[in-house]
Amino acid sequence: MFLVHPEKNKTDIKLFGAVQISDTAFLVYKNSEGKVVLKTGRDEKLQKRAVKNMLAKNPAVKRLLNKYKIKPSINTKTLKELAGGHMNETCNIAKGVYSILAENLNPEIDRAVVKEASMLHDLGKILIPSKILNKPAKLNSKEREIMNIHSTLGYELLKSQGVKKEILELIKYHHQNLNKSGYPEFEEDLPQNLPIGMQIVSIADKYSALREARVYRRKLTRIESLLILYKEVREGKIHRSVYEALVKYASLCDSDV
Ligand SMILES: [Fe+2]
Ligand SMILES: [Fe+2]
Repeated sequence: MFLVHPEKNKTDIKLFGAVQISDTAFLVYKNSEGKVVLKTGRDEKLQKRAVKNMLAKNPAVKRLLNKYKIKPSINTKTLKELAGGHMNETCNIAKGVYSILAENLNPEIDRAVVKEASMLHDLGKILIPSKILNKPAKLNSKEREIMNIHSTLGYELLKSQGVKKEILELIKYHHQNLNKSGYPEFEEDLPQNLPIGMQIVSIADKYSALREARVYRRKLTRIESLLILYKEVREGKIHRSVYEALVKYASLCDSDV
């Protein structure tokens, strides 16, 4: 494996994963000769090339965009913000939650899969129009429908890149709940119960999002965020043990109230 500057190599470039080094997320790109380069979300030229490649190789993404009348433009600003912020933070929280979870749950978890899926989970947002992504108000039902395809878009984009099936599944279902009330619909060939890795990515994503300011609301405090998620435990959306691990993580690592 060699590390090269991608711009010096004009061959096909693939985004095929993500790694975290010293708490910083890097996207992993590979060219057709198998040479690998790590990048933060900042290299917009490279991202555009990689996403164009993914689009060219995947008719399912084009079909999805056509169905929702979305112009296939690539929102690299979003990836820059997500890679350096929310996706990296989701990974930190997910790592904390799986470390704290009871011993009997741990053997079921593939930590590397959880880590990589949490770092890539919102990749599909780069194809969501920014007027929807950054709308400073509640989305209407049509906009919500479009927003909700980001998990399927991320899955489809990465499917053609040789990303492991287990990681792809976690990306596709990171908005799915324990009682299957989330989206997209959980497929029949998957295990009846939501895999524990999926639940970890999901709760880490929710907590990370609540703890960040959004264009339509302020950043919520630790207690406010945990109370919202506790309501979801009572509604059957989140497993109590996963929630308890998050509470422990938050009290140890989140210094805010
Ligand atoms: Fe998401
Ligand atoms: Fe997210």
